[in-house]
Amino acid sequence: MVLPLRLGVNVDHAATLRNARGGSVPDPLRAALLAIAAGADGITAHLREDRRHIRDDDMKRLKQEITKPLNFEMAATDEMVAIAIDTRPHACCLVPEKRSERTTEGGLDVITAQEHLRTVTSELGRAGVRVSLFVEPSIEAIEAARAIGAPVVELHTGAWCDALAHGETERAAHEFARLKAAAILASEKAIECHAGHGLDYETAREISALPQVAELNIGHFLIAEAIFIGLEAAIGKMRAAMEAGRAAAGAA
Ligand code: PXP
Repeated sequence: MVLPLRLGVNVDHAATLRNARGGSVPDPLRAALLAIAAGADGITAHLREDRRHIRDDDMKRLKQEITKPLNFEMAATDEMVAIAIDTRPHACCLVPEKRSERTTEGGLDVITAQEHLRTVTSELGRAGVRVSLFVEPSIEAIEAARAIGAPVVELHTGAWCDALAHGETERAAHEFARLKAAAILASEKAIECHAGHGLDYETAREISALPQVAELNIGHFLIAEAIFIGLEAAIGKMRAAMEAGRAAAGAA
């Protein structure tokens, strides 16, 4: 069965731009409202420990003002769990966080941190928050997500996108095969499968051909495109790319 495919728009980098000048523009909430008007199915924002882009107040305003589901991306720390329980977003995507990284570099270490992630997943679940684990596209990670009891996984597409960007076709094919195998296994285990990181129009089209993928979360490329063609047009083009990929889903 081919599932409908949702687009979650990550507005972190509207906040990055705002914070670069220390003022109030561009407002990530305005980006979120515009993204929804342009066809986003949900909004994602990552409250990092160092608050380098989204801040506590942004998360509160997003929760209050947007009419579509809010996906709160966060590290599985006590501080973030408390904020998430207070905010009550639709979903939390748990990600690894390193202070020195520019962006989320890899998936969660779901093997070593299994016990802790199980505790956090059930705590958030009891608060009515749907938990997604951001994982490497590996069989072990999906098995661990199942053992943890997470209802959703988000597959890290970064290595695949990076291989394509560097013209490394063999590595790209290998990474895509891993994504496909992980998506199939997640679906067999009744875990909802999302994907994201580093996606652009072309890679979004290709990954949309995997019928098990129910949601893409895309940020940096859309905000970058918005500078040139506007956020509304960028989201329209992204949706068209996803739909074109989805139309080929039966053949994937
Ligand atoms: N999904 C997750 C879990 C992420 O950490 C990120 C990056 O913040 C994204 C999706 C979006 O990645 P990008 O900004 O490269 O589109």
